[in-house]
Amino acid sequence: MKLDQAIQERRSIRGFTDEPVSRELLEEIIALANRAPSSMNTQPWHLHVLTGEPLERVRQGNTERMLGGVPPTREIEDYGAYQGEHRKRQIEIAVQLFEAMGIERDDKERRQDWVMRGFRQFDAPVSIVVCFDRELLNNTIAHFDTGAMTYGLVLAAWSRGLGAVINGQGIMQSPVVREVANIPEDQVILTCVALGWPDDEFVANSVISRRRPISNTARFLGFDD
Ligand SMILES: Cc1cc2nc3c(=O)[nH]c(=O)nc-3n(C[C@H](O)[C@H](O)[C@H](O)COP(=O)(O)O)c2cc1C
Repeated sequence: MKLDQAIQERRSIRGFTDEPVSRELLEEIIALANRAPSSMNTQPWHLHVLTGEPLERVRQGNTERMLGGVPPTREIEDYGAYQGEHRKRQIEIAVQLFEAMGIERDDKERRQDWVMRGFRQFDAPVSIVVCFDRELLNNTIAHFDTGAMTYGLVLAAWSRGLGAVINGQGIMQSPVVREVANIPEDQVILTCVALGWPDDEFVANSVISRRRPISNTARFLGFDD
């Protein structure tokens, strides 16, 4: 698949078939993601690839804690609720997804079920826990570098017909993920990626999120017109 096509057509996939993803294919994708640029070539990222029993334990642990009322926690600084334009965009994509799924505004049960799907890693056959070196915890550039690698990972997956969603919810019961995946103490959990073969019947997979026009995101200085 051409790069432009992968960038243009990629979207977050939140419904997967049960078909497993081979370790060989995952290694191929990770090797590509590993080519991401990083500040001074520091390559601060670490990936923990879960499937089968360990992934089931994460799903279970996350679900039990959420239903038990344990407040979600992350290992990076919590940025709080989005405001203003950011909040508007957050609501816009939520409305698109709920409309596609036929979830009504006041249907608390199905809304809750949707949230819990995120904590279950969207029932994907694979979850990749994305970490970086703890000594760079307060170095914003390390977050940037790890994010760049993660986007490469998602694109490499897409170009092979796999679907993925970068899934903050999946690590928001971070003690569960840390314990089950046995994350070394010198690494910080940043996010995870739920990954697998897209379920074409899952309607939310067709949702195309909107983007600001480039006239709103970019300025051009020193050009003729
Ligand atoms: C850092 C990060 C965290 C995300 N966490 C979640 C999440 O917890 N749950 C979810 O459904 N989508 C999550 N997403 C996916 C975004 O909602 C999605 O990328 C955005 O709405 C744009 O849609 P698209 O990926 O289909 O283009 C996350 C994306 C990023 C980059």
